[in-house]
Amino acid sequence: MARMTTSLDDRLDFVARLARRAGELAHGGFGTAASSLKGRHDVLTEMDPKVERLIRAAIAQAYPGDAFLGEEEGVSGGSLAGAGRVWVVDPIDGTANYARGIDRYCVSIACVEDGRPCLGVIHDPCHDRLYAARAGGGAWLGAQRLAVSPVDRMDAAAIECGWSTRRPARDWLAMVTRVMDAGAQVRRSGSGALGLVDVAAGRLEGYAELHINSWDCAAGLLLVREAGGRTNDFFAGDGLAAGNPLLAGNAALYDELAALTRLG
Ligand code: IPD
Ligand code: CA
Repeated sequence: MARMTTSLDDRLDFVARLARRAGELAHGGFGTAASSLKGRHDVLTEMDPKVERLIRAAIAQAYPGDAFLGEEEGVSGGSLAGAGRVWVVDPIDGTANYARGIDRYCVSIACVEDGRPCLGVIHDPCHDRLYAARAGGGAWLGAQRLAVSPVDRMDAAAIECGWSTRRPARDWLAMVTRVMDAGAQVRRSGSGALGLVDVAAGRLEGYAELHINSWDCAAGLLLVREAGGRTNDFFAGDGLAAGNPLLAGNAALYDELAALTRLG
């Protein structure tokens, strides 16, 4: 099917409205949705697939020629290999927080074109905040332009070190120890997408994770870059389908952080 040739701004407008609708649906089950485990500490609620289906159907209707990759139900609209445009979606990022009624989760939608995010939108329903970025168009929280932090000392820096059971705890502890020994404080708040938002908004100086999936970080990576930050080459190799290590930081500390985490 032919690819729709709407402008990036039209697509951004569409996806911003869709992320807000999806966030409203998700929020109906905040702290109450029935949940189960996909694996150790890998939570699934009844709402994750429902929200993903809403997003998938809306995108399929608006952009029928595009491929879609969602955390819960995988690929539709063609294969990822060779797809020009792929929508990469995490219906609920921070699901463990969401299931426990902790107010840190979001809907994350990115449009990846020729292997690079060109649009990224993240809706934080607990605070009704909509973050949006377009390649070359800046990163925004509503009408407020975002910029990374100017902090240039590790002993004044706050770094989020994301954690999952996909990598051994000892490797995560070793990375955290190196970052703390360099003087930074370390956080782990349970949403990779919102951790990247915090880097873009200048609330944190960096985000590092040994392995993360593309749906957790594709939108956030664009937000960080459009806010003046730096990131590693997350989409290298099979990053889109299989995930990769992730590093994002403000411009002043990125190189030091890359050496400390060994992820740059
Ligand atoms: C997880 C969160 C977490 C990150 C993990 C992700 P989920 O996604 O983003 O912060 O460290 O790598 O898997 O399970 O909440 O959708
Ligand atoms: Ca996720």
